[in-house]
Amino acid sequence: MKALIPAAGLGTRFLPATKAQPKEMLLVVDRPVIQYIVEEGLASAADEVVIINSREKKSIEEHFSPNPELVATLRERGKDAYADIVEQVGNYNVSYVYQDEPLGLGHAIRCAHENTGGEPFYVLLGDVLVPDNKMLPRMQEVSDAHNGASVIAVMPVPDDHVSRFGIIAGAAETDDVWKVDSLVEKPALADAPSNLAVFGRYLLSPRVMELLADVEPGVGGEIQLTDALDAVLNEEEMYALVIDPADGFDTGTVESWLETNNVLFRRASEQKK
Ligand code: G1P
Repeated sequence: MKALIPAAGLGTRFLPATKAQPKEMLLVVDRPVIQYIVEEGLASAADEVVIINSREKKSIEEHFSPNPELVATLRERGKDAYADIVEQVGNYNVSYVYQDEPLGLGHAIRCAHENTGGEPFYVLLGDVLVPDNKMLPRMQEVSDAHNGASVIAVMPVPDDHVSRFGIIAGAAETDDVWKVDSLVEKPALADAPSNLAVFGRYLLSPRVMELLADVEPGVGGEIQLTDALDAVLNEEEMYALVIDPADGFDTGTVESWLETNNVLFRRASEQKK
């Protein structure tokens, strides 16, 4: 089973910081943000992470490549703890496919169709951080309890944020699990069926990957993953895990990025005490 991480976006909201450096390589406390996402993927049931990259973002691949010269230099200087970390990151099981045109999230995911091998797969969006790595295992449990159905993470958002997200319609099955009836990408508040927003973590059936081949451009002229999820509901069940705002951090804007850094830095400092 694979964990897919789309990373081919332009990082427009972070310009000028992202002019020469991918957004995924920006620092959160002590490592580039994509390292948290890769580590979360590898901590799940996935055996490999597939990064859907653009050909301009080679520094992402360099970050996850072995660097024996650097490791040797660090060891010569007695800096073994750093050498160990560099070695570990260079050995993560990460591979790459390329999205050569910016046609949307659904298109990015479809670029990895040969990698998923007709199996269920995870999708992890890089603008959401889940530092305790517990969300994907919990989603897997919900899926296992419902015959392998797709499961998406959702979070309640205030009215003025609804139009920034994919929004679900459905009914609560338990305190934190909803059965999904439909999804709509970035609705106007008046058209939003709930305030439960899709929050960057998906466990998807192989049928979603097949349907993505035929999804027409939607909101923003882009091929939307949300539209494939809505389409698969004609054939299969889907569930939503309602996550606690304390479990996931939005890093999609400069403001939320800085706030995430502050919270995680404080947490790391507390743990060191
Ligand atoms: C994407 C998805 C959207 C989801 C959001 C946050 O939108 O299309 O459904 O709610 O991520 O996970 P984007 O932020 O890429 O526009």
